[in-house]
Amino acid sequence: MLSNYCKVAATNHGQYCIFTVIKLNSFYNCYKMLYKRQKLYGLLTISALLTITSCVKDPDIGAPIMSCGTPYSIVLPAQTPPMPIPEDNPMTVEGIELGRHLFYEKMLSGDNTLACAGCHLQSEAFADKNKFSIGIDGFIGSRGAMPIANAAWADKYFWDGKANSLEEVVLFPIQSEVEMHESVFKAIKKLQSTEQYPTMFYHAFCDSTITVENMAKAMAQFMRSITSYNYRSLPNLGKDLRNSVQQRGLQVFQDETKGDCFHCHTLTTFTTNFDFFNNGLNEDPSLNPGLAGQTGDPQDVGKFKTPSLLNLRHTAPYMHDGRFQTLREVVDFYDTGFHVSPTLSLDLLKHTKDGKPVARAWTEQDKRDLIAFLITLNDDSLINNPKWSDPNE
Ligand code: HEC
Ligand code: HEC
Repeated sequence: MLSNYCKVAATNHGQYCIFTVIKLNSFYNCYKMLYKRQKLYGLLTISALLTITSCVKDPDIGAPIMSCGTPYSIVLPAQTPPMPIPEDNPMTVEGIELGRHLFYEKMLSGDNTLACAGCHLQSEAFADKNKFSIGIDGFIGSRGAMPIANAAWADKYFWDGKANSLEEVVLFPIQSEVEMHESVFKAIKKLQSTEQYPTMFYHAFCDSTITVENMAKAMAQFMRSITSYNYRSLPNLGKDLRNSVQQRGLQVFQDETKGDCFHCHTLTTFTTNFDFFNNGLNEDPSLNPGLAGQTGDPQDVGKFKTPSLLNLRHTAPYMHDGRFQTLREVVDFYDTGFHVSPTLSLDLLKHTKDGKPVARAWTEQDKRDLIAFLITLNDDSLINNPKWSDPNE
């Protein structure tokens, strides 16, 4: 029975227990976060995390089980860098499927009405249409939901980089008062009391006792599996652009005297380098310090995560605070609307003079062409792929 779900270790040295390897940094961050919010829960989590999580003996072979579930191999386009996958959370078919159910599970919220998917809608490229997301108590947050595709390749998450792994990400929205407002311990209790989840956790992790750690791992696996590409970016750059307007738009995007967008929104498969920059949204960035709020480094004041430009048709309104409704507003902002401050990115600083943006050498037509190019960067397979859809429908 067990061997159906559990991959047996290559070694045959008899029976022993496997301890989950907890990366010290993610452990510390998780602790830090929980400790800040709920001191008692923080301590409980530490002891839960330190518990041996899998100690399973295969009844048929007698060999130790190194990992559970059927290994999942992800197929990526040739030019895509290998997906970084944490050693202690390999992707499995069962883990991803469990993660998918959890992602669409309303029980993870305080009043059982809001799932992750309530703000990260597949039909909207896993973002939502709201300027600010609305949580279960009707509280409106101060940031827009981020699209989730290709998150596997980033090493910092959220607009201000406050989480260091997708495993860690999961704990924020569940516990956030303005989002799902539920204690993770109550959430796993609810899951444990269902018929379906203990079995699904067993299939994924060889353990039907649900832990916060395994819940986070399953959801992280599901999110890693969500990938999105557009072949109009490198290395097929522009090859299938349908008309000369879009072709010219691509040139404007690349031209350092015109759009000059490509340093941050790199035209690789992801159209972002996942890095953090101050792109001049605020006159006084210290009021909304972004990455600096996490690192404490004055150089990071006003820096936010560079979003992908894939699926812009779905991710409006734009920027972390959803301040722009249209791409036209975004382009005008990069032309003469941005603010100069000490941490402004050098790629924007070079388009300024005497502390003010200087109009670039682009024409009205260039701007229109640029927008025509940007809206070609769509990937409908992300929106339509049934493997990321609601499993209950
Ligand atoms: C109430 C709406 C809401 C719900 C529910 C919600 N999110 Fe989010 N999500 C957001 C917002 C808003 C952000 C950006 C927050 C920030 O940067 O502070 C975000 C950011 C993220 C990111 C970061 C992406 C990146 O590229 O850095 C991930 C991953 C994510 N959410 C996953 C989840 C998961 C998993 C759940 C369920 C456990 C969830 N979200 C539930 C609104 C929501
Ligand atoms: C210095 C790096 C940098 C340059 C250059 C740059 N961007 Fe950005 N871009 C960012 C960052 C960082 C954000 C997110 C800022 C935030 O919300 O706080 C962003 C956000 C955006 C968004 C919003 C996406 C969304 O889903 O919310 C669009 C669209 C965009 N940029 C287009 C462009 C275009 C077009 C150009 C060239 C004219 C350009 N960017 C140049 C760094 C850059």
